[in-house]
Amino acid sequence: MLFSMRRLIIAIDGPAGAGKSTVAQRVAQELGYLNIESGAMYRALALKALEAGAAMDEEDALGPLAEQSRIELAPAPGGNRVLLDGTDVTLRIRESSVTEAASRVSAHPRVRAWMVDRQREMGQDGGVVMEGRDIGTQVFPYAEVKIFLEASPEVRAERRIRQEGGDCSNGTAVAAVAEEIRRRDERDRTRAASPLVPAPDAVVIDSSTLGFEQVVARILGLARSREMEFPTAQT
Ligand code: DC
Repeated sequence: MLFSMRRLIIAIDGPAGAGKSTVAQRVAQELGYLNIESGAMYRALALKALEAGAAMDEEDALGPLAEQSRIELAPAPGGNRVLLDGTDVTLRIRESSVTEAASRVSAHPRVRAWMVDRQREMGQDGGVVMEGRDIGTQVFPYAEVKIFLEASPEVRAERRIRQEGGDCSNGTAVAAVAEEIRRRDERDRTRAASPLVPAPDAVVIDSSTLGFEQVVARILGLARSREMEFPTAQT
């Protein structure tokens, strides 16, 4: 009898700016897994809602809009392409108006329920790294590896300023962005629908003090030991 490695579900959750996307992409590449960015799905729906002129606080409009949508993530070199109802929206979902709308769209339980169903379908066979806010708590509470990736508000503020081409030598500007991040964290952690909290069995990794390679190595170490715990028999 031959044994092959079990293909796991790896959940990576955490706040914006903790480095989830780059870490998830690299971990998936090393393991030969699919990388699913759940935030991109909320962003795609937010774009659709903006284009439809929907009110972002109306769950009764946004729920059906989600339910009539087709959102796909198509693996491509350099990251997934995001398809909304068959149209490539990969670049447009990164616009700041969409970032803002995605945060509002994702607060509605009916929208979340639809997203969670799609995400479960995408990941049910294993061999996936799924990244988001509620993957280890709601989408795959039985994921074999759960990571909660954090970083201090100051480090996340500096990353965001650099990403937007700004200057991090201005301490007052960094402190102002860090304060805004702290306020948003508080809101995300205390919201009623899927608050951003680590699953009780998640491994919390702080990327403020660890380099990118160290974070990736830590997750790969956890994944490889779980893969070997339950090899799958092949006949
Ligand atoms: O990770 P991101 O910035 O692309 O996420 C976009 C928005 O979607 C952000 O406001 C958080 C929300 N989101 C969520 O509520 N649940 C997820 N699993 C993923 C993202």
